[in-house]
Amino acid sequence: MRPRPLRLLVTLLLACCLAACADGAAAPVNGSPGVGDPLFPTAGNGGYDVGHYGLDLSYDPPSGRIEATAALTATAREPLASFDLDLSGLTVTSVTVGGRSADFSRKGTELVVTPAQPLPAGRRFETTVVYQGVPGLLTDPDGSQEGWFHTDDGGALALGEPVGSMAWFPGDDHPSDKATYDITVTVPHPMTVVANGELAGTAPRPGGRTAFHWHVAQPMATYLATVAIGDYTVQRSRTASGLPVYTAVDPRSDDPQTAASLARIPEIVDWESSIFGPFPFSSTGAVVAHLGDRQGGYALETQNRPTFPGNEGTPAVPVTTLVHELSHEWFGDWVTPHNWQDIWLNEGFATYTEWLWKDHEGVATEEQSAQAAFADADNWAFAPASPDAKQVFAPAVYGRGALVLHELRRALGDKAFFRMLRAWPAAHPYGNASTQEFTAFCADFTGKNLTPLFATWLYGRARPAHL
Ligand code: ARG
Ligand code: ZN
Repeated sequence: MRPRPLRLLVTLLLACCLAACADGAAAPVNGSPGVGDPLFPTAGNGGYDVGHYGLDLSYDPPSGRIEATAALTATAREPLASFDLDLSGLTVTSVTVGGRSADFSRKGTELVVTPAQPLPAGRRFETTVVYQGVPGLLTDPDGSQEGWFHTDDGGALALGEPVGSMAWFPGDDHPSDKATYDITVTVPHPMTVVANGELAGTAPRPGGRTAFHWHVAQPMATYLATVAIGDYTVQRSRTASGLPVYTAVDPRSDDPQTAASLARIPEIVDWESSIFGPFPFSSTGAVVAHLGDRQGGYALETQNRPTFPGNEGTPAVPVTTLVHELSHEWFGDWVTPHNWQDIWLNEGFATYTEWLWKDHEGVATEEQSAQAAFADADNWAFAPASPDAKQVFAPAVYGRGALVLHELRRALGDKAFFRMLRAWPAAHPYGNASTQEFTAFCADFTGKNLTPLFATWLYGRARPAHL
C-alpha cells in the first residue's frame, strides 16, 4: 500500500492539472530540438521564432578565440518550459531569459535553456548567451566543411551553409527562421571586419582594438550570416541606380581575373535586376578571403554580398561564379527554401542564371547550356526535388534544377516565363517557400497543367529520350 502523503500529493497534482486544462491554458512543453527538416533533423528548434540577433564578438588572433554575447529576441509559439538553441562546440558561461538567470545544459549541438519561469505562448522574450572558445568546423554528410575557418594570417571566415552558423553563435539554425541582425566584432589593429548588411560604425576599444558594427536591416537566414576578419582592401561604389557596393578583398587573393570580375558587380547587379526585379537588399558587394591551400570552403551567397574563400592556385572569383552567387540574392536570400530538401529552388535558379549570362555574353546559347546539362549523367543521379543529406549540393540539384527552368521556358514561351521568374521571389519577399509552393505558383500563374513537366524534370529519375 502506498504511503498516505504521496497519495495526497498525487491527488493534488492531478487536481491542479485538471484545473489548468479547464482554464484552457495548455501545459508548458519542452521545445523540440529540431524543426522537422527531412535532411537535417536537429537543425533549428521548435517552439519559438527569432526576430533579431544581436551578436557581439571579441576576437583574439593569436589564439583564434572569441569571447561573445548573443542577445536573441524571439517570440514563443507555444507555452515553453524549456527551449533549445543550436550551438556547436564553444563554452557557455551564462544564459538569461527576460533578464533572469536561466538553467542550461548541452547535448550534442543542442543548448537546452530552462527559463526561471515558463514562457506563455505569444510572449516576446530576450535571451542572452555569454560564451567563449575557439570556434571550429562542422563536417556535413557529403564531407564538406563549414562553420568558422581560421585563415592563414590569423583571421577568420564564417561560412554557414547548411548548418555552420551554430559554430559561432547560438540560434535557431534553420532557413525557415529569418531574422534581422546586428553583428559587432572587435579586433586588434590593423585588422578589418566585414559582415552582412551595412557598416553602422566603428569604435575604438581599449588596447588599440576596434569594434566594427554591421547592421542587417532585412530578414536573413542563419546560413547566410558571415563574418570575415583579416587584412582587407575595401572599395565602396554605387550601381547606376544608387545601390551601395562594398567589396573587401584579401590582397593575397587579388589576382587580375578576380579584380576584373569584381569591377563588373554594378553591371551584373543591374543586369540581374532587369530580369528578376529590383535588388532586394540595401547594399551589395563581395568578400574575397584567403583560406590558403589546406582548406576547402566554398563560394557562398552570404546576404548582401557573397563570399569567396580564395584558395591557392585558382582565380578567386570567376565571373560566372560571381553571377551565380549574386543571383542567389533573389533566389535563396530574398525567397529562402522552406527546408533543405527545397535546395534546388536556390541552386537550379542560380545555375540557370549562369546560362542566361553566358547567352548574354555570347559564350554559349541557353540551348547549348541545357544540352550540355542534359547530356551529363551526373544530372540524372537523383530527382532534384528529393536529394538526400549527401546530395544537397550534388550536380543534379544544380544542373537538372536549371533544366526544370529551361523546360518551363519552352512550355510557357519567353514572355510568360520571364514574367513568372520575376513574380516568384516577389510572392515570398524576405520569406520562405517550398517546392510544392513553387509548382502550385506556376500552375496558378500560367493557368497551364504543368504536372507532366514537373513529373519528368523535377520529380522523375529517368532521363527522357531527348531534351
Ligand atoms: N550555395 C553555395 C553555391 O552557391 C554552395 C554551398 C555549398 N555548401 C556546402 N556545405 N557544400 O553553390
Ligand atoms: Zn549556388
